[in-house]
Amino acid sequence: MSTVISPEAVAAAVDNALVAIAAATTVDELKQARTAHVGEASPLGQLNAGMRHVAPEMKAETGKLMGQARASVNQAYAQREGELAQAEETARLMAEAVDVTAVAQRRTVGARHPLNLLMEEMSNIFVGMGWEVAEGPELENEWFNFDALNFDEDHPARAMQDTFFVEPVDRHLLMRTHTSPVQVRSLLSRELPVYVVAPGRVYRTDELDATHTPVFHQMEGIAIDKGLTMAHLKGTLEHLARAMFGDDAKIRLRPNYFPFTEPSAELDIWHPTFRGGARWIEWGGCGMVNPNVLRAAGIDPDEYQGFAFGMGIERTLMFRNDVADMHDMVEGDIRFSQQFGMVV
Ligand code: FA5
Ligand code: MG
Repeated sequence: MSTVISPEAVAAAVDNALVAIAAATTVDELKQARTAHVGEASPLGQLNAGMRHVAPEMKAETGKLMGQARASVNQAYAQREGELAQAEETARLMAEAVDVTAVAQRRTVGARHPLNLLMEEMSNIFVGMGWEVAEGPELENEWFNFDALNFDEDHPARAMQDTFFVEPVDRHLLMRTHTSPVQVRSLLSRELPVYVVAPGRVYRTDELDATHTPVFHQMEGIAIDKGLTMAHLKGTLEHLARAMFGDDAKIRLRPNYFPFTEPSAELDIWHPTFRGGARWIEWGGCGMVNPNVLRAAGIDPDEYQGFAFGMGIERTLMFRNDVADMHDMVEGDIRFSQQFGMVV
């Protein structure tokens, strides 16, 4: 019993194989299509196997038919295999590609606040002269902030409307209103002579405006030694002013009153290029340390004397770096700090 392999059956098997090959979208799918349409169990494979039973006189013709069928399927397979391999390679390269022109993703870093930079720079000027840098607490005892500094019991600065007292009031704690309590703390904790600067934050019930803030910074200085005079005070402040503002800077001491210094002076600074032109601006206060303060720290004022000063850091930044409005210093916008970089 001989088999007849019809050209229609072969053409149908070939068409199905070509459709499956064309539909394959990966090399794996293509291999599955070959197994399904060209493998031994596939229609084409079955037809091929049937060749054995084809009548001898039909062998040549059927063999040619089958050969053409296999050739067209193999050719389609090879071509699709090439296309898919190329596509997969391209996709892999795309996935691995590095865009060398891409903007690097940096984490935004903060900037140190210019007030801190300025306090550091001012401290360094004193360290260069052999002074020490000290710190005191912002939550302070009323005694250090006022009593030890020779403030009267009824001095107006002690009034509730100027000073942030901390409850319960009978504990006599307050937010320090100036850095001057560090004068007394330094004298109590150190051997004489004492040369100390103390930068830090202070608090007052002032309204926030262009030139005042309720939380601001000062730098205190105190020098106690044998034979110190007002001339040493003036020379020290002149050196600071020139180091901070340049050789053209001038200082002026105007008579004033502070309970903890006698005589006392308002410290003004002048520079030809200050905002608004060459002019005198109040920078801080200073004077010769009052004997009562020395006594409060257990020092004999007949043996040791000295001077003290304290200036505003916000004010310093304003006229040194042309900052017109203190709001910028307290609002915490990072763009303000970044203008200064790491040096003021
Ligand atoms: C004092 O605070 C004295 N302790 C200074 C002193 C120290 C005198 C040592 C003598 C010896 P005064 O209250 O004037 O003084 O403040 C000093 C400076 O702090 C002012 O000149 C100003 O630059 C700054 N300042 C005062 N109030 C404010 C405020 N609300 N905002 C910003 N800066 C201020
Ligand atoms: Mg003042």
